[in-house]
Amino acid sequence: MLGFFDSGLGGLTILKEVEKIMPEYSYVYLGDNARAPYGPHGEEMIYNFTKEGVAELFGRGTELVVLACNTSSAVALKKIQQEFLPKEFPDKRVLGIIIPTAEEIGNTSSAEEIGVLGTEATINSKVYEKEIEKHFPELKIHGQSCPLLVPIIEAGETEWEGLESATKKYLVELFKKSEKVDSIILGCTHYGIIEDLIAKNIPANVKIISQGKIIAEKLKNYLSRHPEIDGKIEKNGKRIFLTTENSDRISKLAGLFLGKAVNFEKTRLD
Ligand code: DGL
Repeated sequence: MLGFFDSGLGGLTILKEVEKIMPEYSYVYLGDNARAPYGPHGEEMIYNFTKEGVAELFGRGTELVVLACNTSSAVALKKIQQEFLPKEFPDKRVLGIIIPTAEEIGNTSSAEEIGVLGTEATINSKVYEKEIEKHFPELKIHGQSCPLLVPIIEAGETEWEGLESATKKYLVELFKKSEKVDSIILGCTHYGIIEDLIAKNIPANVKIISQGKIIAEKLKNYLSRHPEIDGKIEKNGKRIFLTTENSDRISKLAGLFLGKAVNFEKTRLD
């Protein structure tokens, strides 16, 4: 199976796009909703939480886990790949979503100045700046953390006017950094579901880059280049959805992210 991990429901916006082009694969999704948001936490806590989530997904028979969470990808991925996997799961793989986004960014847009919206941990890590610089050093990056957005979205308050006020505030702060921002990366998987709200509050010529389609294409390409991993992944269209929170509440909210109703089961991490 293929595993997807997020602090909460945001990773479903990535899984939704992956499913569209790879429907035959079997997927296990895990949202650590009980401990979300991860964004305000320090590196050690984010690493430990992410590691526990990854171990749970491996325990459920996944060969490869995608950290469908920018915060975990920014803060925990390297240590998981360099320390945790070699020691505990040498035959398994974990991939993040920031490097593939950074690799594609200059190809998918005519950007010159890019705004990145993300959690505090993602923006403070400067991983977007570092990774984009490797491929497109001419691009200027302006990070903007948006700490209120994930808690509001995880609470299911997507129609609440406070969400729009908070979004506007962060966009004003971003454009204060540079009026020349011409593209915006939604650098948190939760923000996919407020793309229209963001679009409404930025100049019409500013392009929004969301990660779902980029990650789906990159994952498909990765698996075609790694038949030794792809060959081990079940392809019978099975779907399992796990959460560390109240599964009824999470099942009700999930439709908003995935575009269809699904049933979550409760699990424990520690
Ligand atoms: N979806 C996660 C991300 O992409 C949200 C992080 C959080 O829990 O704060 O960053």
